[in-house]
Amino acid sequence: MICSIRSLGVHGIRGYGVTVECFVTTGLSNFDIVGLGDTAVKEAGYRVRAAIKAVGVSFPAGRVIINLAPADTKKAGTVYDLPILLGILAATEAIDAPPADAAFFGELSLSGKVQPVSGALPMALAAEREGVRALFVPAANAREAAFAEGVTVYPVEDMGQLLAHLSGESLIEPVTAPEFSGKYAGVLDFADVKGQENVKRALEIAAAGSHNLLMSGPPGTGKSMLASRLPSILPDMSREEALMTTEIHSIAGLTTAAEPIVRQRPFRAPHHTVSAVGLSGGGSNPRPGEISLAHNGVLFLDELPEFARETLEVLRQPLENGEVTISRVSGSVTYPSRFMLVCAMNPCRCGWYGHPSGRCKCGEGAVRAYRSRISGPLLDRIDLFVNVASLEYDELKDRSGGESSETIRARVNAARERQRARFAGTGVTSNAAMGPRQLAACCGLDQKGDAMLRAAYDRLGLSARSHDKILRVARTIADLAGSEKIEAKHVAEALQFRGSF
Ligand SMILES: Nc1ncnc2c1ncn2[C@@H]1O[C@H](COP(=O)(O)OP(=O)(O)OP(=O)(O)O)[C@@H](O)[C@H]1O
Ligand SMILES: [Mg+2]
Ligand SMILES: [Zn+2]
Repeated sequence: MICSIRSLGVHGIRGYGVTVECFVTTGLSNFDIVGLGDTAVKEAGYRVRAAIKAVGVSFPAGRVIINLAPADTKKAGTVYDLPILLGILAATEAIDAPPADAAFFGELSLSGKVQPVSGALPMALAAEREGVRALFVPAANAREAAFAEGVTVYPVEDMGQLLAHLSGESLIEPVTAPEFSGKYAGVLDFADVKGQENVKRALEIAAAGSHNLLMSGPPGTGKSMLASRLPSILPDMSREEALMTTEIHSIAGLTTAAEPIVRQRPFRAPHHTVSAVGLSGGGSNPRPGEISLAHNGVLFLDELPEFARETLEVLRQPLENGEVTISRVSGSVTYPSRFMLVCAMNPCRCGWYGHPSGRCKCGEGAVRAYRSRISGPLLDRIDLFVNVASLEYDELKDRSGGESSETIRARVNAARERQRARFAGTGVTSNAAMGPRQLAACCGLDQKGDAMLRAAYDRLGLSARSHDKILRVARTIADLAGSEKIEAKHVAEALQFRGSF
């Protein structure tokens, strides 16, 4: 007899429906799984055999054939253990077939326990799209899956519990969708940072408009310290942004039962020894890399010149269009990767170039060689350059404390709100992502502002790209000031953060 059980799979970032067809017939004892499963899928047979014993049923004698449809897409992982077991039980009439609007996924242990899998949220969202009403998932994945609000999610601890529910003997309580709030709840605060007002201001502008930023300065001036506090002033995440970022983290297996949802904008700080694949994603079972894990958040590259040039090459496509495509023999996957790039570096090899103490002994040539390690196309994508100078003794001893992150974040949120309203329906969410059309429509300068930008353009010999970058940053500065028009003072401040490379 044949029985079909609904389940799900993930390709790239997107979940899709899978039907697990079980066929049990007489003949030589045999167990086959067809439908382009990987090794983990093929090994389901062993786990299912053991788990079926654990629920007190004997494995059917004869031939068992499992078909995972659609048969032409690759299936990976252990998510089909649970539906395969149910299918075999239903096909041998050990249980009634489950309702047609129910779907199942989960890994089984040999003792019939249901283990968590990665990709629960994208699969739950796919279930929602496919009209599934009741979704049975590993208990440890349940809260994450319940972030998809259109399906009722049942947490399953073990097979015995699931069978008791399906027979109506003892019902499983569905989980309620987790409360969502995208507010920062960490402990690091800008109030801890003394002085460095210009750097804090640059970070505020960057956070407000999602601009890329580079900090350069001698050792111990607070570059890493400042960057690590950036999450505390990033705009609150919308539910939609949180959903997408959580999906990516879920596929990478980074969500946990305790932290099922990414509520705060991610801050990814890969070490400079990271590989190109670690950064961009990939591998034989493709996994999102750092640039995708940073989607809707920050990618921080500390000690920028230490990163291998070829590694940084992978940033070009995502910095351009907000996604990364990973090509492999078996096909390609695309992951979203729209992040704010923040970099920190010393100005020269010894770190002290330009310091008033004159302790840098690097020659001009050596300084140039050091900086030329960073590729031009990457620098071209940086909107804000800021020098982080050594603190004066008085600044360091100042006990008054700086502005708190909460105060700064309130301004950033207000500025981002203006951007959301302005770009509603265009797919653009921040000033940094403005294309030519938005630049033309939303960046009106007043007369003095226009005169100032023209003068700078001629005097500094700017490129069209630099001109656009200044305009985008000036737009954000005006948004922080609550001004619809971009005024001369906004342009002037944007010009201060031009690159001096
Ligand atoms: N502006 C500051 N206010 C308060 N403490 C600071 C400040 N700058 C530096 N510090 C202290 O110095 C430590 C070192 O700073 P940090 O690691 O951020 O320096 P850095 O600029 O990243 O240096 P490097 O170039 O060597 O990486 C901080 O952990 C902090 O304790
Ligand atoms: Mg540092
Ligand atoms: Zn030096």
